[in-house]
Amino acid sequence: MKLLSLLALTAGVLGFSPPKDWENVAFTRSVDLSRSYVREDLTIEIQNLADSPNSEYYLAVPNFEYEKMSVLSVFPLNNPDQLLPLEYTEDASISSSGPVVNYVRVSVPPIAPRSTYKIGVSMSITNSLEPLPAKIGMLDEQTVVLRTNKEPLSAYDTVKSILRFTGVSEATEIAASDENRGEIKNGALVFAFGETLAFQSHPMGLLYKHNEPLIKVNKLSRGVWISHLGDTIQFVEEYEITNAAAELDKGFSRADFMLNKNAMRSTHAITAMELLVEEGARDLFFTDLVGNVSTSRVFDDKMYIKPRYPVFGGWHYNFTIGWTNTLGDYLTKLSSDEYVVRIPFLNGPPGSPYDTVELSVYLPEGAEIVSVDSPPGFKKREDGYEFSYFDLGKGHTKLELQFENMVDTLGKMDILVKYKYGTAAYLTKPFNVAKYLLIALLAYLALSKVDVTLKAKK
Ligand SMILES: *[C@@H]1O[C@H](CO)[C@@H](O)[C@H](O)[C@H]1NC(C)=O
Ligand SMILES: *[C@@H]1O[C@H](CO)[C@@H](O)[C@H](O)[C@H]1NC(C)=O
Repeated sequence: MKLLSLLALTAGVLGFSPPKDWENVAFTRSVDLSRSYVREDLTIEIQNLADSPNSEYYLAVPNFEYEKMSVLSVFPLNNPDQLLPLEYTEDASISSSGPVVNYVRVSVPPIAPRSTYKIGVSMSITNSLEPLPAKIGMLDEQTVVLRTNKEPLSAYDTVKSILRFTGVSEATEIAASDENRGEIKNGALVFAFGETLAFQSHPMGLLYKHNEPLIKVNKLSRGVWISHLGDTIQFVEEYEITNAAAELDKGFSRADFMLNKNAMRSTHAITAMELLVEEGARDLFFTDLVGNVSTSRVFDDKMYIKPRYPVFGGWHYNFTIGWTNTLGDYLTKLSSDEYVVRIPFLNGPPGSPYDTVELSVYLPEGAEIVSVDSPPGFKKREDGYEFSYFDLGKGHTKLELQFENMVDTLGKMDILVKYKYGTAAYLTKPFNVAKYLLIALLAYLALSKVDVTLKAKK
C-alpha cells in the first residue's frame, strides 16, 4: 500500500516529457558573471527529426534556475527583435535519469523534416550566486560560487556544445567530476563537448574571483510625478538595498577600516555607488535616514553617491534619490485632451537585481487613465488618488504597478500611460490656487476691517 502510493506520487511528478522529435545540432551557452546576478545567452541550432513539419520546441530549464528566472526571451537568431511565443509549464518534471526540469514551449515557424533552424535564448537568473567562503576578512578578496550544469541539459540529444563563462578573471571548477577543465580564450573560460544525450545532468560548481559588492535591491519605490503646468517629470526613488557579498568574519572595526582605506581600492563592501539617472536630469538630491548627504556627484546621466558608512556583506542601506526632467521629452499629445507619457521603467545601480519594484505614476489632478502598456509583466495594478499640497478635489490621479524579480537590463523598457486630461481639468489647479488667493485676500480684508474698527474704537 505504502509502496503503491509512493509509486503513484513519483508517477505524478514524472509528469510530462516532450516527444523526442528534435536534435540539437549545435548548442552554445554563454554565462556572464560580471553582475550581481547571472545572465545566460544560448544559441541552439535545432533539426527536425520528425516526418512532418514541426513548430514546437521544448526548452528544458533546471527547476532550481526556473524558480529564480527573472527574464526569458527566445528569438530567431537572424532576427533578435522578433520574440517567439512562449508557454510556461507550471509543474516541474523528473526525467528518468534524474534532473528536475521545467519546460518552456517555444513556437517556431514550421520546420520541414531534416531542416534546421537557429534560436537565441536570453535569460537572467537572480539570487543564485553565493560568496564562498561565506565569511571573510575586510581585506580578503572575495570568491563566489555558481552552481550550474556543465553539459547542456535538454529534452533532446545534443551533437556538440560549447560552454563559456565571461566576466571572470580567475575561475576554477570545484570537485570536477571529469577531466575537461576548459581553457581560457579571449578572457573567457571555455569548455567544448561532444555528444550529450537528452536529460543528462552534469552538475558543476564554478568558483570565481569577484572582489566587488553584490548589490541587491530588496525594494525600490519609484514615484514619477507629472506636471503639465511646470512642464516637469519628477522622479523620486526610495531604495532598500542589501550587499549580498561575504560577511565579515570578525566584527566591523572603524579604526581598521580607516587604517586600510587606501588598500581597499577594490573591495566587497559598498563604499560608493554609481546610479543611472535620466539624461538631462536636474535638481538631483540624495538623502538617507539621517538627512541630506552632500557626498554625491553628477555626470551626464550618472550620479555617484557615497553611503555614510561602508556597506559590508549582509548589511543593509536605505536611501532616497530624486531628480527632475523636462516633461516635453516624455509626453506626446494625441488629441486636444489625450496624452501618452513614456515612463522609463528603471534607472538605478547597473548590474543589480530587484526583488520588488513599486512604480507609482502621479498624473495631474483630474486626469483619467485610458490605458497602460507595460512590457515588463506586473504582479499587481492599483488605480487611485494621492492628495498633495493645493489639491482640492480628489487629488492627483495615481497609477501603481508592482513588479517582482526584475533586473537592471529591463530598465531600458518604457511603460506607456495613455490618459485624458481636458481643458477643464487643466484649469482646475490655477483656478483652485486663485480661489485660495481670493479667500486669503477676503480674509485679510475682513481682518484688517476688524482691526480698523478696533482701532477706531480706541
Ligand atoms: C543637499 O546637498 C546638496 C549637495 O549635494 C546641496 O546642493 C543641497 O543644497 C543640499 N540641500 C539641503 C536641503 O541641505
Ligand atoms: C530599511 O527600511 C526597511 C523598511 O522600512 C526596514 O525594515 C529596515 O530596517 C531599514 N534598514 C536600515 C538599515 O535602515
